[in-house]
Amino acid sequence: MITSPTWIVRYVADTRRLPIDAQDAWLSAAEEAELAFFAHEDRRRQWLRARWIAKRLIALSSDSTDLRRVEILSRSTSGLGVAPQVFVDGKPTQYRISLSHTGSAVLVGMTTDATSIGVDLAWDVPQDRHFSSAWFSEREQAWLAERPGSASLLWGLKEAIFKSQGDSQTWNPRGVEIESYGEHEVRCSLFGRRLAPLSTWIRTSSRGTATAVWQAKTQDAPVTVRQEFSSCL
Ligand SMILES: CC(C)(COP(=O)(O)OP(=O)(O)OC[C@H]1O[C@@H](n2cnc3c(N)ncnc32)[C@H](O)[C@@H]1OP(=O)(O)O)[C@@H](O)C(=O)NCCC(=O)NCCS
Repeated sequence: MITSPTWIVRYVADTRRLPIDAQDAWLSAAEEAELAFFAHEDRRRQWLRARWIAKRLIALSSDSTDLRRVEILSRSTSGLGVAPQVFVDGKPTQYRISLSHTGSAVLVGMTTDATSIGVDLAWDVPQDRHFSSAWFSEREQAWLAERPGSASLLWGLKEAIFKSQGDSQTWNPRGVEIESYGEHEVRCSLFGRRLAPLSTWIRTSSRGTATAVWQAKTQDAPVTVRQEFSSCL
């Protein structure tokens, strides 16, 4: 058994099977207010299911089973999406959370030590030239030309990098430029600022790519035994 993980990535392929209680049993007033922002039933379901998974991860990691002690908020005062902020018993914490949902699937990334993390489920990304030339740089397009069918990999990396490293900017796929991608590491720039290399976790399926990126640790502080990935059907 792995204890005290620095990061956890949890993928749930079919959230319809989750035994989620009635929302008033585990959402705070502020979370209810964020949920009320969404009118579309599918989006409300995605929001609830991702919240439930993320709140359970945090509650379990802080030795509690009471989801009401954990609060995850991801809206600015003007109602725009922002990186989720995590509170326990009303206080800001070191936990960092990133969420992605598509259809009935949810991907959640969590770190316990304030390390920024970003995740993305990039499914059904168009692979055509028109899409590529609109959203990918020339270097990215050249990389894609050598690896047909890899648009979801690049798209997932871009979104995960934005979620992990963005700073109040508006999402623009061209704002994230992938410079090189190797096993377990990506080098990139964000809105013209070169970032330190980021660690990656990537899985592909017939629908697309599940991606997580987080700040790499320095070489003299390996974290290989403090990692966890779990997947539930
Ligand atoms: C990031 C973004 C492109 C993802 O959209 P998507 O691919 O349709 O959806 P995903 O399911 O992959 O991700 C949605 C989750 O990303 C997170 N998220 C949203 N904005 C985020 C941001 N700026 N940084 C980090 N994470 C963000 C949220 O947790 C959201 O889920 P929730 O609303 O259920 O909490 C979109 O949410 C976006 O454009 N956000 C930025 C909005 C903006 O302009 N904000 C200005 C800052 S004040």
